[in-house]
Amino acid sequence: MTIIDGKRISAEVKQELKEEVDKIRENGGKIPHLAAVLIGDNGASETYVASKIKSCEQIGFKSSLIRRGSETTEAEVLEIIDSLNKDEDVDGFIVQLPLPDHINVDKVIEAIDPKKDVDGFHPINVGRMAKGLPAYISATPFGVLELLKRYKIETAGKHCVVVGRSQIVGLPMSLLMARNDYPGNCTVTLTHSRTANLKEICQQADILVAALGRPEFIKADMVKEGAVVIDVGITRVKDETKKSGFAIKGDVAFEEVAPKTSFITPVPGGVGLMTVAALMYNTLLASKKAIY
Ligand code: GUN
Repeated sequence: MTIIDGKRISAEVKQELKEEVDKIRENGGKIPHLAAVLIGDNGASETYVASKIKSCEQIGFKSSLIRRGSETTEAEVLEIIDSLNKDEDVDGFIVQLPLPDHINVDKVIEAIDPKKDVDGFHPINVGRMAKGLPAYISATPFGVLELLKRYKIETAGKHCVVVGRSQIVGLPMSLLMARNDYPGNCTVTLTHSRTANLKEICQQADILVAALGRPEFIKADMVKEGAVVIDVGITRVKDETKKSGFAIKGDVAFEEVAPKTSFITPVPGGVGLMTVAALMYNTLLASKKAIY
């Protein structure tokens, strides 16, 4: 059994990006610039955005943080997006989700210029990705693909079971694993909260991607001997023994599942760090106008 080291791989990806930015700087080229919009006071979102800004600094990207309170109106958010769309120095930007309930998330995402949508959430990018056209691929699935690639995990002809059909992880993950490319060429089953016989389906997975957001939901009896298990879950649970007052739990009961697997990602230290690295990669693509 191999524990996939997201910390090492994300550091590798970021180092490669840093070397490329160093070269761009030496040649007097445009330094990639990522902007992040953070609305409200969701603790997890604050942590994620802080880690994105920190990664920009480590790599040598320029970054901007646009922060507003939870009372911000939808119109105000749309105005911020409009100005970022028009700002020629900003190569790409993200609006951190979730947004406060009074803001329509689809309206916000559709207002982002697809050329600057480095999260790959805009319907144009999702549609292009589904068609296999050049597109920004959303960061979490992109990060998972990169882990599979760098560990040279065989995917062709395998049965990949994705648990969870979210717009930003489960759905794109299922499309990417089915595409005619490496890593892909899987037979994919996309499961969700209404799936009958979920346990039996999971037991058939050569590659199991858990992305449902329920801590330690995937137990040992749901996993086939020798399976590759990718844990996308990041849930904060109260833990008084921790300084922060909470612990991060994945969707997989790691201790009992790991011994049955050939490869498994831990939480923390697995997919989460790759998400940030993939966003940085998309930002470099945006600054190079590599997609559009
Ligand atoms: N919330 C949880 N994951 C993400 C992400 O990848 N991007 C954005 N913008 N918000 C998120």
